[in-house]
Amino acid sequence: MMKVGEMSELSAEKPLRVSLGSEKILIFLVNGAPVATAARCPHAHGPLHQGELCGTVLTCPWHGWSFDLVTGECEEDPDLLLQRYDVKVDGNDILVSQVPA
Ligand code: FES
Repeated sequence: MMKVGEMSELSAEKPLRVSLGSEKILIFLVNGAPVATAARCPHAHGPLHQGELCGTVLTCPWHGWSFDLVTGECEEDPDLLLQRYDVKVDGNDILVSQVPA
């Protein structure tokens, strides 16, 4: 696992945008816990950091498709999955698996 940030940097309003090797990922604060996802929407690569988060559901700004950040499932297309990464908190450090979950 790789350190990508600190808990003190997270806010419920907007995700943290960080690099994970050559990938860009987002760290959301969901129900008080960090959730790591791909930065681009699996539909047509929309910028998910500009999406709207309501509870555990993130709505993509480009076409309004919704993704559950806990499961990765897409409401509009059950075959589409938002890529997520395992996260561990160690003290204030946020550690993320370099391999998608
Ligand atoms: S690019 Fe995200 S819904 Fe189309």
